[in-house]
Amino acid sequence: MSVESKIKHVAIIMDGNGRWANGRSHPRVWGHVRGSSVVSNIVEEADNVGVESLTLYAFSTENWSRPLPEVTTLFKLLKKFLLRERKKIIKNNIQFRVMGDTTNLPEDTKKLINDLTNETENFKGLKLTFAFGYGGRQEIVDAVNSFTKSNPGKMITEEDMSNHLYCPVLGDVDLLIRTGGDQRISNFLLWQMAYAELYFTNTKWPDFTRKEFRQILQNVCSRERRFGQVCESVSLYETSSMADKNKKILESAMGK
Ligand code: FPP
Repeated sequence: MSVESKIKHVAIIMDGNGRWANGRSHPRVWGHVRGSSVVSNIVEEADNVGVESLTLYAFSTENWSRPLPEVTTLFKLLKKFLLRERKKIIKNNIQFRVMGDTTNLPEDTKKLINDLTNETENFKGLKLTFAFGYGGRQEIVDAVNSFTKSNPGKMITEEDMSNHLYCPVLGDVDLLIRTGGDQRISNFLLWQMAYAELYFTNTKWPDFTRKEFRQILQNVCSRERRFGQVCESVSLYETSSMADKNKKILESAMGK
């Protein structure tokens, strides 16, 4: 089975920048600078291999507590990325967006984000999303609040939840990659990650290459995904309709 048909949505926790820089006796921010050029390579590679959505954890709600110079460096790198990559994003039909709370970003960066988001919203290529000022728990709370506001007194369903997330169009995550050697999901895409394959690599983000990215995709393609079933590689749609059918058969057998 090809990468494209099996791994539609890849999410990445780009970890290890600080340790990469410290190991070279550089300040931590140097790791972020090097890390941001790796972002461009991996976006290109994801597009080349036919991944549909790539979601990158660029700044979490918890990152606000980092030293101010580090926070402002991350802001600047986002701005530089937008300026540097804008043309390429448009040329390659990439649909760009940022998800999370961007209220505190400088006005010029917010404008760059809004302009590029609007310009690319109908593009049919790779969906590239930066999670910036993002927290998975906050996203779930916001989804529930947005649902209850428009549906007072109604019970929320799983489908309602999915439809009220920040970017429902992205759907579930098929593969989470975390670089930097730690094995946790750090409040990233908690709802969307329910059935994701997880891949942890010791490579620190500034050393992460296109080649390793491809190898991970190949490795995960050969894993069997059962979604709690016994048969191989069923889609989530098939899973829920099969479950409904089975429930009905059992209910009628039990005379309900
Ligand atoms: C984690 O490394 C990484 C981040 C908090 C930010 C990720 C940001 C980039 C890759 C660069 C920004 C690029 C763009 C285009 C916005 P860490 O600092 O936690 O590393 P450590 O675990 O070694 O301390």
